[in-house]
Amino acid sequence: MYDFTNIIDRHKTNSTKWREADIIPLWIADMDFSFPEVVKKSLLSLIEEGVLGYAYLPDTCYHSVVNFYNKNYSTKLEAGNVIFTTGVIASLGAALNTFCQPGEEVLFLTPCYNTFYSVVEKMGLKVITSELDYKDGQYNINYKDFAQKLSRPNLRAFVLCNPHNPTGHIWSIEDLKKINTLCRERNILVIADEIHGPITLPNLKYECSLNYIENVIVLASPSKPFNMAGLKIGFSLCYNKNINARLSLAYNRFNIASPNSFAIQLLPTLYNDCQDWLIELSQAIKHNYELTLKYIESNGLKIKVSYGGGTYLLWLDVSYYSNDSLKLSKFLKEKYKVFVSEGSKYLGNGHNFLRVNIATNEKTLLMGLERIKNGLLAYKNYKS
Ligand SMILES: Cc1ncc(COP(=O)(O)O)c(C=O)c1O
Repeated sequence: MYDFTNIIDRHKTNSTKWREADIIPLWIADMDFSFPEVVKKSLLSLIEEGVLGYAYLPDTCYHSVVNFYNKNYSTKLEAGNVIFTTGVIASLGAALNTFCQPGEEVLFLTPCYNTFYSVVEKMGLKVITSELDYKDGQYNINYKDFAQKLSRPNLRAFVLCNPHNPTGHIWSIEDLKKINTLCRERNILVIADEIHGPITLPNLKYECSLNYIENVIVLASPSKPFNMAGLKIGFSLCYNKNINARLSLAYNRFNIASPNSFAIQLLPTLYNDCQDWLIELSQAIKHNYELTLKYIESNGLKIKVSYGGGTYLLWLDVSYYSNDSLKLSKFLKEKYKVFVSEGSKYLGNGHNFLRVNIATNEKTLLMGLERIKNGLLAYKNYKS
C-alpha cells in the first residue's frame, strides 16, 4: 500500500507548482504524491557512489520500456524501436523539424495541450486546428472537418494527444483506425503524444496507437505516470526503420539524445518495479474525481465536468459563470488564491473551461474546490 493521503511540503524545493506560498496550485500537470520507496533506494544507490559522471543507456533501459508496453498495451516492440531523448516536447520539436519543411502545416484537434502550438511555431511551421465536437460533456472528432484539414495542400503532420490533454478523452480503437485511414490516404505523418497513457481510471485502458496507426511515431515518458517531470527523459517508439534512422539523427542534431544519469538509473526501476504504484494511483484519482463530483453537486455549482477518464486533469465547463476563462482564472488566483489553468490557451471551446489538476491529497483538493466555489459565486456578482 502506498500513501496517497499525505503530501510533501515542496515550498522550499524549487517546485514550479508550489512556487507561490499562499496559493493552492491545481494547474500544472505535476502530482503531489511521493514516489515509491524502491525509487528512493535506486536514487540513493547512485548518490552513494559519490560520482555523477557521463552515463550510457544500458540494455535494461530498452528492455524495461519494451516489456512494459508489450505486456500492458499488446504492442510488438523490440529494443531497436525505442529511442531515448531528454523529453517529449524536445522529441516533438526534433521530429517536426525533420519531417516537415519550413512553412508546412501541422494539425491538432482542439482544445489541445498548448505547448504543442509553440513548438510548431518555433520550428517555423504553421498550426492548423480542427475543433472537436462537444456535446453532453463529451468530445468527438468532427470527421468531416478533420478530413478537410488533412487535405490542405501544405499539411504535413497530425499530432494526436492520446489520452487527450486537457479533456482526458481516451481515443477509441475505432477512432485510431479512422485516423490511420485518413492520414494514410493523404500521406500525412502521425505523431502521437502518449505521455499520459498509463494514467486512467481503474476500469479504463488507453489504446496505444502503434497497434492501429501505420508508421506512427509515439512519444512517451515516465514523467507523467510516475510523476518525474524533473527527470527530463522521454522516448519515441516507432516500427519503421527509416523513420527511426532519421529520428536518431535529429535527436543527435538537437543534442537531446542523452538523458541524465538519474534518469538512466531510474528508468528500469520505474517500468519494471512500480506497476503496483500505478494501480494504486488510479484508485486515488478515482477517489478524487468522485470527491470533486460530489462537491460540485452538493454545493449546487453550475459546473459540468467533462472528463474522459484519462490522466488526472479535470476539464470543467464553467460557461454558466464565464466564457472568458483567462479573465476568470486570473480572478480566482488573485482574489481567491487558487491557481487553475485557463482553458482558452488550449484553443477550441476552451474559453468556457478551467483545467483542474486533482492529483493531490483530499485536504488540498477540498481547499482548492472551496476557493473555486467562492470565486465562481463572487465572479458572477462581480461581473454584473
Ligand atoms: C500531453 C503532454 N505532452 C508533453 C508534456 C511534457 O513532456 P516533457 O516534460 O517530457 O517535455 C506534457 C506535460 O504536461 C503533456 O501534458
